[in-house]
Parts: sequence; structure tokens; C-alpha cells
Amino acid sequence: MNHLSSVLDFVPLSPAQLLAAGGRQATTPAALVGGTPVLWVGEPFATPGRGFWAKLEGHNPGGIKDRAALYMVQAARERGQLLAGARIVESTSGTLGLGLALAGIAYGHPVSVVTDPGMEPQVAGLLRAYGAEIHTVSEPHPAGGWQQARRERVGELLAAYPDAWCPDQYNNPDNVAAYRPLAHELVAQLGRVDTLVVSVGTGGHSAGVGRVLRGFFPALRVVGVDTCGSTIFGQPAGTRLMRGLGSSIYPGNVAYELFDEVHWVAAPEAVWAARALANTQYATGGWSVGAVALVARWIARTCAAEDRIAVVFPDGPHRYVSTVFDDDWCRTHQLLGHTPAEDPLEIERPADTVVSRWARCRTVERPHPALGTEPAGSGLVGVTR
Ligand SMILES: Cc1ncc(COP(=O)(O)O)c(C=O)c1O
Repeated sequence: MNHLSSVLDFVPLSPAQLLAAGGRQATTPAALVGGTPVLWVGEPFATPGRGFWAKLEGHNPGGIKDRAALYMVQAARERGQLLAGARIVESTSGTLGLGLALAGIAYGHPVSVVTDPGMEPQVAGLLRAYGAEIHTVSEPHPAGGWQQARRERVGELLAAYPDAWCPDQYNNPDNVAAYRPLAHELVAQLGRVDTLVVSVGTGGHSAGVGRVLRGFFPALRVVGVDTCGSTIFGQPAGTRLMRGLGSSIYPGNVAYELFDEVHWVAAPEAVWAARALANTQYATGGWSVGAVALVARWIARTCAAEDRIAVVFPDGPHRYVSTVFDDDWCRTHQLLGHTPAEDPLEIERPADTVVSRWARCRTVERPHPALGTEPAGSGLVGVTR
């Protein structure tokens, strides 16, 4: 008998261990959403003694957006905005699409997802397998880029299906409220949170988690993480490879008042961090996970040693096998061999400098009075969701 099987066979388990070993029991797939674990990320990824807690949202059936999709659909049904059996139509680059496919199965709605050619084939394949219909726009809008082109296609589909309902994740307050349980889970799991590090796309999970945690811990430091080339925090629109976080519009759900600071991360830096995490921690993810982990690693090194840092990892690595974790793809996009700097570039105000590497700004302000509108002339190649 080898060592492992002898351990497995003969170590007696306590009743609590037996219960934990039994895992969760669910009668519907939607009941598996939430209650995700936290993992301590310490050395060698982080400086010895200076780690952070990662909330592993990749343990949801689809990813973090399962929470938002189920909540938005349930609320729209209760309000009578989404009728029984009516179609759900939304613009997404993937994660919300997976959540909506789950909600469609759970509540009996057909789902149409509008996306662009940047959607990973693995995600498109999964969405089709889950029964969603995919509409891919072929050309960016001349002024508003891919995101505007997708929004226009959503409009066409809504006109074609008179009963159809669009969640509008950028402006729907339910996409914020959906994340309150995540905050309560963090309180139960960690007891105290001094710093929250979150990526920002629609602004949904940062606003939902951040507001509740601030209620518990008024001195909470909230750190937003965006991508270079994203307009959300007042940088000009630029070319973006990174998906999930970042945007080419000003989403109405972003809670600007909540953030103490914002960091922008470039694609090679996020790739470095996602790969370093995989190599040292096993738990990893894609663009947003790499970006928040890079920032959290620095925060852990530079803040007070006793501070407790919670970092939301929105999904796992599987969707990124043909991009972030593919050497040829990364070489083609010149993403390999860039070890990030030890510290971010510090800028005074977002409009001061156009950043193309990891940068930090402690002045966070609403960049545009007309939130929810597309900045003129943003001929973008990348889009969020
Ligand atoms: C992988 C990933 N990371 C981060 C985000 C940003 O989350 P939010 O839209 O809640 O700001 C998203 C949003 O879709 C995502 O899909």
C-alpha cells in the first residue's frame, strides 16, 4: 500500500470534517452560485509574510456574472419586465453571457448574446452548448467602436422580438445589488477587510461589494483596477486586448465616490501576473485576475503588515487557454518577457498622462458628465464583456 492510500484509508475524520468533505448538495444549477472560497495568496507570488486573500469567483458554474445574471433576471420577472418564456438579449464578451445562459435554463427563457470577433471560440462553443444564440457583429461602428456596434445590434434584436428584454448591465442597478451577498461572504470568511481590490468593467461588482463592505468597515480602502486604453476613469479611449475589465463607454454603474485610488494595468503585465499565479498558486484566471493580482501584490508589500486585503478574482483560467496561456498568441501580440516594474507609475490626475504601463492615481473622479454615452471618435478594437 502506498503512502497516499494509507493516509486516505486510515486517518479518522471528525464530524465537522466529514460534513465538509461531503460538499454542497444542490437541486438546481442556479443553487450552486455563490458561496465561493477564499484562498490565501502568499509567497512566492507575494513578498514573504505579505499576502492577500483571493475570492475565487471562478468556482461559480460560469463565473462572477452568474450572480448578476440570476439576480437581474429574477428581479425583472418579479417586476413584470420579463414575461414568462420571453427572450433575453444582451451585449457581452462572455462572462455575463454564461450567466444569462444559466438564468435562461433556470427560468425558461431563450437567450441571444451579441458579441464581436474577439470572443474566444471556447466561450462561443460553451454558450451554444448551453442553448444561447450568438450574434457576432462583423464591423466596428465608425465612431463608437465594437461596443457601439454591439449595442446597435441589440436594438435590432429587441425590435425583432417585441417581448424581448435587455438587462443593460452597464446601467441596471440590479447588477450592483446582485453582489451584496459576495460582500457578506467576505465578512464571514475574513472577519475584517482593510483593503478591497476589484476590477472594473460595468462597475457592478466593485459598487455592490464596496458599498456593503464600507458599511461594515468605514475606513476600508477601495482600489479600482482598470486596463490601459479604457475610458472609465478618464483616460482617452485606446486599443485594448484585455477583455472583462475596462470599457470604451462610461458605465452608469461605476461608483466613483467609492474608490480611493485607481490602477491601470497593461496587457503584458496582466499576462505576467496570471502566468506567475498559475505557476506558484495554481489558482489563476485571465486578464482581470492578472491585473488585480499584480496590484494586490504591490498593496500587500507596501501597506501596514497587519492589513487584511480581499481581492476579487472574477473567473478562472479555462477561457484564456487560447490567449493569455497560449505562447504563440502571446508572442504574436508581444506580451511575453515583460516583467512588470516593482512599483506603479504615479500620476496626479487621470487626464495628466496617457498611461501605457501599470500606473496609479489617487484622484478618482467622474470623467464625463453624460454617463452611459460613448466618447466620440473611439475607434476601438477591444471591448468589455
Ligand atoms: C472576467 C471579468 N473580469 C472583470 C469584470 C468586471 O466586472 P464588472 O462588470 O462587475 O465591473 C468582468 C465583467 O464582465 C469580467 O467578465
